[in-house]
Amino acid sequence: MQIIKYMFQPHGDERGQLVALEEVKDIPFHVKRVYFMYDTGEGVRRGFHAHRNLEQILVCIHGSCKVLLDNGHEKKIVPLEKPYEGLYVSNAMWREMYDFSSDAVLLVLASELYDESDYIRDYDEFLKYIGENND
Ligand code: TYD
Repeated sequence: MQIIKYMFQPHGDERGQLVALEEVKDIPFHVKRVYFMYDTGEGVRRGFHAHRNLEQILVCIHGSCKVLLDNGHEKKIVPLEKPYEGLYVSNAMWREMYDFSSDAVLLVLASELYDESDYIRDYDEFLKYIGENND
């Protein structure tokens, strides 16, 4: 399984850093939705789902966390520790986010609006979906 991490260009000067993200140019899709998680409790693990169509980029813009990616055949753990690193999460990919530092802010750029029918929240159903879609 290939992990696709984007290294964004920080525009740094004596005032500090600035990262700008433009859809299609820096992000491989049109961004329809942005959300972020913060104040995540110690020991919390969240996610536990895949999507039929949604693509995402995850950026831990403050603090750190880990992401487990699972394509139904293989699992990989990706630490997110830098505000200029973006992890691409394709559709049909099971994800779990955990090990959030107390100051972690996890920003998500999403290719689609929120749609509960796009979620696969049951792991066995995910494996079945992967099998049926030959991924
Ligand atoms: P949830 O899917 O449980 O988050 P995670 O995947 O991180 O475990 O979402 C938490 C709540 O937020 C849930 O009530 C649905 C709501 N929500 C929205 O309203 N819009 C969104 O874009 C997202 C991602 C979640």
